[in-house]
Amino acid sequence: MGRRKLPLIENLEITDVAAEGKSIGRYNDMVVFVPWLIPGDIADIQVIRKRRKFMEGYPVNIIKYSPYRVAPFCEHFTVCGGCKWQHLPYGKQLEYKQKQVADNLARIGKIHSVPVRPIKPSAKQQYYRNKLEYTFSAMRWLTSKEIENNGEISERGALGFHIPGKFDKVLDINHCYLQNEFSDILRLAVKKFALDEGFSFFNHRNKTGFLRNLIVRNTSLGEWMVIVVFGEDKPEDIEPLMFYIRDNFPEITSLMYIVNTKVNDTIGDLDVKLFAGRDHIFEQMEDLKFKIGPKSFFQTNSEQALELYRVARDFAGLTGSETVYDLYTGTGTIANFVAGFCKNVVGIEYVEDAINDAKINSQINGVDNTIFYAGDMVNVLTPEFISKNGRPDVIITDPPRAGMHPDVVKTLLDASPQRIVYVSCNPATQARDLEMLSEKYTVTAIQPVDMFPHTHHVENVVRLELK
Ligand SMILES: C[S@@+](CC[C@H](N)C(=O)[O-])C[C@H]1O[C@@H](n2cnc3c(N)ncnc32)[C@H](O)[C@@H]1O
Repeated sequence: MGRRKLPLIENLEITDVAAEGKSIGRYNDMVVFVPWLIPGDIADIQVIRKRRKFMEGYPVNIIKYSPYRVAPFCEHFTVCGGCKWQHLPYGKQLEYKQKQVADNLARIGKIHSVPVRPIKPSAKQQYYRNKLEYTFSAMRWLTSKEIENNGEISERGALGFHIPGKFDKVLDINHCYLQNEFSDILRLAVKKFALDEGFSFFNHRNKTGFLRNLIVRNTSLGEWMVIVVFGEDKPEDIEPLMFYIRDNFPEITSLMYIVNTKVNDTIGDLDVKLFAGRDHIFEQMEDLKFKIGPKSFFQTNSEQALELYRVARDFAGLTGSETVYDLYTGTGTIANFVAGFCKNVVGIEYVEDAINDAKINSQINGVDNTIFYAGDMVNVLTPEFISKNGRPDVIITDPPRAGMHPDVVKTLLDASPQRIVYVSCNPATQARDLEMLSEKYTVTAIQPVDMFPHTHHVENVVRLELK
């Protein structure tokens, strides 16, 4: 039996944006999700998936462009998975992010009467990231032009970003607007050297090849960390590349490499070898320094992270006498950031290396009123833990996208701090948790912050007071 042919919807007007950077139109009471379009566009949409209440499709023909459209600035737009909103003016992006927060909090969190403060825009809308991880691939993503031309494909190696949903295909990046342009200069030079030397690029299907990743990090102090990940332990080839980078890029503060012969790409369990400089770089926020090692997590937009932390500290309303818990503390950045404004801080995080960094960050800043624990929140944050460490007056929580485990929310309700500051990168799970917390807490302030211009991602900070 042949497959049912899915419809082509003609003249669909896009009316809103949806999760994951998609846009929405309505057709016969059904929601239609489409990539790459923006509100105001009218297009013919080929449906590729049909469910009871919604359809998914892709644009085959744009009939009329939205009056809001601006020209995308990047040559890789629509092929690369990043910066999907660059055809939407920044003001409109902010408007939709603000709306995303308000809609989720109203629909899921049942919060209707607290106004959402105007989102804090990012001062930098390009070159704002402090970390990029480029991937080498033996199978470069070919453009439709290259395929149409049907000619010789000159070079198959790529150094860039994975094509969304394709684990084995990498888009070769010429210019990227996400990190200071030194990152571009370095990436292009490394690729050229590797090609000239005839080094093999990783084949993600059969998991072979010499060059796997290039990780580039920088800080507002002008420090650079570069890590090359090799798929084969061949010192005779590793050394020439590392010497080439060291000798040609004296700007690099920390030059390291990793040999990863495993099937998976994770480097958390691997040895990092220092080749030149120090094994860390420093970031500075206000008068605090943060040490960033090769495996440390740090918010990827440093300038906006500072804005975010200031909002969190302000919402915490500290007077100097409080015991503060910083849940999901990562490398203890928020904990150290508020330590000077309260009696003491207890930080919890499950990555042990991050907790070690958190302790070092307290040490190098002369902060002596923090204590950090490593472990899964559900297991660590128990009534016994709270009696041992002191009942919190304020809890700051910054969970991953999935939000908090229901048992953790329950522990928060039992601990009943006067104030909770909830920092989130996912307004939907945040709204779900807020609804649970409404048993004892009232939301008194909502402040979204834009950390990632040209993407649909939004960070949101909510203050809750004990009823
Ligand atoms: C959004 S990050 C917050 C990091 C930190 N607040 C900052 O600004 O740098 C969330 C953190 O939660 C940690 N995490 C995720 N699940 C966890 C769990 N079940 N228990 C403890 N920590 C967890 C992650 O390792 C990550 O460091």
